[in-house]
Amino acid sequence: MNPTTGPVGSGRVARIVLVGFMGAGKSSVGAALAGRLGWDFVDMDEEIRARTGRSIPEIFASGGEAAFRSLEDAVGADLLSRSHLELEAGGVWAAVAGRLENLPGATVSVWLRVSPEEALRRASGQGIRRPMLETPDPLETARELLRLREPFYSVADVTLDTEGSDPQRLAVDLLRVIDGLPLSPPT
Ligand code: S3P
Repeated sequence: MNPTTGPVGSGRVARIVLVGFMGAGKSSVGAALAGRLGWDFVDMDEEIRARTGRSIPEIFASGGEAAFRSLEDAVGADLLSRSHLELEAGGVWAAVAGRLENLPGATVSVWLRVSPEEALRRASGQGIRRPMLETPDPLETARELLRLREPFYSVADVTLDTEGSDPQRLAVDLLRVIDGLPLSPPT
């Protein structure tokens, strides 16, 4: 069947996956979008916390990034079997070769793009511990992580710059772009 375009709510789109760096606005844009779509909005980190009973810093402290990544793999695969789902994906989860290229059919991936400076500014105002940025020079770390991750994020179906726009505006823009995006039917 040929790819089709049309409104997100028409059943053509089963899932929207938001990816991007820490502080990119995945939670705020995701919440604005969920308010408009009425879909389930799941934060992968929250899901990991709920399933393991441990916080993200605790998981990093005991098993490092490798332990966190394997939890993300399992939880992500499980969540992607659901429909009418808006998923806030972990920044690490999306930065895996082939991840965004191999999402299930009828799934739209969205990269919320942010500069390292703005990411750190937002992230520091949120009061959430981010083990990946707990280094002697967080800005340099953010720059380096972004440099490594951008090639993975950039294969998303949609790229949206989040600086200078509020979450509600971004959600409206995003829905408009997705409506015009040709998509393959669900697999
Ligand atoms: C991470 C992002 C965090 C959390 C963990 C690692 C990353 O989520 O999963 O601290 O390396 O991008 P947020 O993007 O919601 O802060």
